[in-house]
Amino acid sequence: MKKQLLGLTLLVILVTSGGCAYRYYLGMHGPSIKESPQMHNDSLKDDPQCLGCHQAKDGSSDAPQTSHPHFKGCLACHNDPV
Ligand code: HEC
Ligand code: HEC
Repeated sequence: MKKQLLGLTLLVILVTSGGCAYRYYLGMHGPSIKESPQMHNDSLKDDPQCLGCHQAKDGSSDAPQTSHPHFKGCLACHNDPV
């Protein structure tokens, strides 16, 4: 019971604090990097690595730019097995 309450509380906090990003937290996972192994391999672990290509401020990257560069833990949502 305690666990469920905690989960519910967390969800409410995320939904209310996340603004328009709320939909990402409702169990929704993004496209997996395993779908494009030519660009992504096991050496990729940290968010800054991802952002180097997916948020290239100078427009030097042809990778699709992320709409949510402030998110933490990219791989939690983008590392599903395919
Ligand atoms: C909580 C889950 C979650 C996290 C964490 C997350 N993403 Fe996403 N991401 C998604 C979802 C869901 C989509 C697909 C919906 C969309 O494009 O708005 C997506 C889409 C994308 C896309 C495709 C955009 C496009 O236009 O094709 C890129 C690139 C991306 N994310 C990069 C990142 C990077 C880099 C990080 C870490 C800074 C990150 N994501 C963190 C859930 C997440
Ligand atoms: C060396 C540059 C580079 C790095 C580093 C990189 N990516 Fe990518 N990523 C790309 C490119 C280029 C594509 C487009 C590949 C394609 O279309 O086949 C892509 C595609 C994606 C997509 C699919 C977007 C779509 O719309 O199909 C996601 C999600 C994604 N990357 C997430 C990540 C995450 C998370 C990381 C960090 C673990 C990361 N990327 C690191 C270059 C990079």
